[in-house]
Amino acid sequence: MEKINASISFDRRFYAQDIAGSKAHCRMLVARRIIARADGAAILKGLDLVLAEIEADRFPFRVELEDIHMNVEARLAELIGTPAGRLHTARSRNDQVATDFRLWVRDAIDGIDRQMRDLQAALLDQAERHVGTIMPGFTHLQVAQPVTFGHHMMAYVEMIGRDRGRLADCRVRLNESPLGAAALAGTSFSIDRDMTAQALSFDRPMANSLDAVSDRDYALEFLAALAITAVHLSRLAEEIVLWTSAQFAFVRLSDAYTTGSSIMPQKRNPDAAELVRGKTGRVIGALNALLIMMKGLPLTFSKDMQEDKEPTFDAADTLAVCLAAMAGMVADMKPNVAAMHAAAAVGFATATDLADWIVRSLGLPFRRAHHITGSLVKLAEDKGKRLSDLSLAEMQSVESRITRAVYDVLTVERSVASRVSYGGTAPANVRRQVKAARKRYLG
Ligand code: ARG
Repeated sequence: MEKINASISFDRRFYAQDIAGSKAHCRMLVARRIIARADGAAILKGLDLVLAEIEADRFPFRVELEDIHMNVEARLAELIGTPAGRLHTARSRNDQVATDFRLWVRDAIDGIDRQMRDLQAALLDQAERHVGTIMPGFTHLQVAQPVTFGHHMMAYVEMIGRDRGRLADCRVRLNESPLGAAALAGTSFSIDRDMTAQALSFDRPMANSLDAVSDRDYALEFLAALAITAVHLSRLAEEIVLWTSAQFAFVRLSDAYTTGSSIMPQKRNPDAAELVRGKTGRVIGALNALLIMMKGLPLTFSKDMQEDKEPTFDAADTLAVCLAAMAGMVADMKPNVAAMHAAAAVGFATATDLADWIVRSLGLPFRRAHHITGSLVKLAEDKGKRLSDLSLAEMQSVESRITRAVYDVLTVERSVASRVSYGGTAPANVRRQVKAARKRYLG
């Protein structure tokens, strides 16, 4: 029973939140004259002693006391005697654990948000350095149109921006206090839930005591936001794996973020990126575990819910290390400007520019221009040339009205510079976007 029942091995992690909750509760009991001032003072002093013991690694954790709540209360009784027994008046472990866990998730959100900001800062620095660095843009992992490396970095700044928004939304909804819901039905003592809510920086007490002790949707939202972030990070990680391969050679990572092989001396393996990609499974798994654990549980508390903590802690720890590694890798990346430029020029990446030129200069409908361009690409392919290497006579063999002016739009530089529509890849645009994003996300 002890082995399956105890949670102290993991819920000791929110000792600080537990003690903060107990202090707020104690002060409220005194203010409402539910316990005597002297008892309240003894309890507060005792709780500080407990806190100091835990932080100094001198606290005698006992598995037979099941969880952090009973460990703290039992030690409090050893330290201050009888007044300790008055702390749990008008409270239950059910509202206590719900309060502690909300406080812990709230702190975790704040920590992760800071790390997300650091990652955005690293992405923005790369973007700014490389607003004009041309690389191939892909669809289907086939060269599609030239873009800039800065523009590509900015795509991730936007994704992480929305991830931060999801966490911020989650924080707003979770920031209500369950404390005072007691076991499930409220209490007959004349407590002041607004006072404890305020003391713990919650916006207000939760309105329904049954809901307060039995929902874990805040943890689900937190994990959902983390899972989406992990998926974003895994996509960037995968790109880093591709880019650092000999076949792409778009980017070089220093020894700080790669490992050698024990047998092949030439290897520089992007292990950190692979692990960011791989750890995504754990974060998504945590969300799954919690959804499945909660599904079909009748109101209110069931002990199943003790299983909410380990996946949540693990997902938060995992994402924290992934964000740190990713921010480090992004700052460390050295783009290979020449290799990216060369790759952007192959695969007929400016075919769309050619079709657009035909529309604009010859007044043909886009569908017709698309067809003509297809024939020109085919011709170039047959001759083993790039589009810009076709002679004017070869061009005119497909469409007689094509003029020499067409060559102006066939370079990757012109292609990129022409994409001036809002959100497009033109360097002037990206420079503006970097500035705006710095203000919005880092300001
Ligand atoms: N250790 C428990 C948890 O983590 C605390 C709540 C216990 N409540 C109860 N009625 N047994 O959820």
